[in-house]
Amino acid sequence: MRTGIQIKTADQIRAMRRAGLVVAEGLAAMGAAAVPGATTGDLDAIGRETLAEAGARSNFLNYGPEFGYPPYPGVACISVNEMVVHGIPGPLVLREGDIVSIDFGAIVDGWHGDAARTFLVGGHSSDEATALVEATRESMWAGIAAIKPGAHIGDVSYAVERSIRSHKPVRYGIVREYTGHGIGTAMHQPPDIPNWGKPRTGPRISKGMVLCVEPMLTLGTDRVVELADGWSVRTADNTWAAHWENTTAVLPDGLWVLTEPDGGQAELTARGLSYSPLD
Ligand code: MF3
Ligand code: CO
Repeated sequence: MRTGIQIKTADQIRAMRRAGLVVAEGLAAMGAAAVPGATTGDLDAIGRETLAEAGARSNFLNYGPEFGYPPYPGVACISVNEMVVHGIPGPLVLREGDIVSIDFGAIVDGWHGDAARTFLVGGHSSDEATALVEATRESMWAGIAAIKPGAHIGDVSYAVERSIRSHKPVRYGIVREYTGHGIGTAMHQPPDIPNWGKPRTGPRISKGMVLCVEPMLTLGTDRVVELADGWSVRTADNTWAAHWENTTAVLPDGLWVLTEPDGGQAELTARGLSYSPLD
């Protein structure tokens, strides 16, 4: 079956690792700066500095017109509290206990990286918000753990959903308007990777694929609304939301999480999976 999924060579995946490391570095710098009193615009400026110092380009800046959206004005999407994704950086001031989702990407030598993290402003938030952020992070890793040659994309989707549903009696909303995706010489490539699904459905995973798993969870409804700026997306019921994403390469002997500083070694080995960096 033709799936249109781009298969990368080892050298191409090495190039994608360089983009992934720039993304990881920018996210760490922005996360460290996500303190009370900082603005979302301040964080975007740090993202710009990271890209400039690395000699990388932004895949977010001016993204959109080919899909009927206004040109995206930042290098990061910064979404606070009830904002789910695509928050436009600006004068909004972060406060103690807020949660801030930062989605950031980079292009190095034509190859893309894309990742997101939700940070607790000031290092802590309410128990409910903290649990939401942790459940979102854990569901991303559950999805990554299901990636292997021969598995189906639906197996990854199912693993994400099952992880999210494991927190009973808490019921998190799973945002359905946006999904994970393939990545390579463009930020968004086939296949779509929904955060819900059925095992043994969808395209088969094979070596050389690079996939972004990116669950978006809410404390309430799964419905979202887009704001008048044409980008920002918030929950329909104004409950808080979290978003985590990594770019992961499928290699012959295991996975390499290109947007983690350690390549995913700690989280993969904790789950009994093989971590397989290229030299
Ligand atoms: N990085 C987002 C994703 O995870 C998309 C960003 S939209 C942009 O797929 F306009 F900001 F680029
Ligand atoms: Co993405």
